[in-house]
Amino acid sequence: PTPPIVSATPFVTDAQIAEAAALLDAGQLVAFPTETVYGLGGDAENPQAVARIYEAKGRPANHPVIVHLAPHGDPQYWVEHLPADAQRLIDAFWPGPLTLILKRAARIPAAVSGGQDSVGLRCPSHPVAQALLAAFGARRGGHGGVAAPSANRFGHVSPTTAQHVRDEFGAGVHVLDGGACEVGIESTILDLSRGFPALLRPGRVTPHEIADVLGVAPRLPDGSDATAPRASGTLKAHYAPRTPLALLPFEALEPLLAQARVSGTRVALVARASRAGAWADMANVHFVAAPEDPHVYARELYGLLRALDRADVSRIFVEKLPDTPDWIAVNDRLGRAAAAFEASE
Ligand code: TXA
Ligand code: MG
Repeated sequence: PTPPIVSATPFVTDAQIAEAAALLDAGQLVAFPTETVYGLGGDAENPQAVARIYEAKGRPANHPVIVHLAPHGDPQYWVEHLPADAQRLIDAFWPGPLTLILKRAARIPAAVSGGQDSVGLRCPSHPVAQALLAAFGARRGGHGGVAAPSANRFGHVSPTTAQHVRDEFGAGVHVLDGGACEVGIESTILDLSRGFPALLRPGRVTPHEIADVLGVAPRLPDGSDATAPRASGTLKAHYAPRTPLALLPFEALEPLLAQARVSGTRVALVARASRAGAWADMANVHFVAAPEDPHVYARELYGLLRALDRADVSRIFVEKLPDTPDWIAVNDRLGRAAAAFEASE
């Protein structure tokens, strides 16, 4: 049967969706928009396609990738067993920015999960992603899954526009342009494969929203539960711009800004608008007023880091955000970006 394709967005035609689905079917890669960030997709059941993803990204082969399913895709097909908790979270948050880690079904190639016995599943809400996944799934009797990490080189900032993807990989990559991503940071990842829910990566779906559905708080990456404060020492370097980035409370940034004034070094300062004060007027400080809303900050974050990489500054100073649940995801990404810089010093 021919896939039921509906016009995805004004920007992407049915013919472009059909062409992209055929490329995936042939083992080729397609970059596509999701509500979080752009993904670099390949057929999840084709180990050669998955190998192409790793090669394009320059990513170690033991890093698992997320399998994307169409809204009417069947999560049962990919897993050994779908726990009741997983079904509750699926009912509450799919389609949307929540990835679930579950025990992988034996028939699914291990390449997609970097050799681990689990698989990460997510159903994106972006209409272009859904149209692509539906068209690809139709070619696979309804069971198609698209393996897709963020469409950036390993360790770099995730792309939130089609142009960002082209900036990462050049014109050679096939990109579906669905406009700017609404969420702007990667999905929340929850591991349900270990007997207790564990948050592996914070995102738009919060630990509190997850706790409301499950009746228990997920464990955080530092081993504490979702109601305990986070230890920043456990953060890994990732999601980094090319320019060194420091994430500090404003009081700790001021001496660094004073140093930059003396040396004449060009720096960027991302801080709340009320901090502009004397610094915003200085010729060598590129001041950016930070969005006050956590969702807006998340949406603009990666585009801002890319813009600052082009802004001819030698340091990016970012005012640390409050240690409150609202800011957990933005703090996480900025913390990793800063960790990349600390590790290289
Ligand atoms: O929002 C997103 O999740 C985006 C869009 C494209 O969907 N994708 C994304 O993929 O951020 P990626 O590969 O850049 O990050 C996925 C992370 C990996 O770093 C890995 O740690 C984790 O998900 N992951 C995936 N499968 C896993 C598994 N089976 N076990 C543990 N972690 C897994
Ligand atoms: Mg990534």
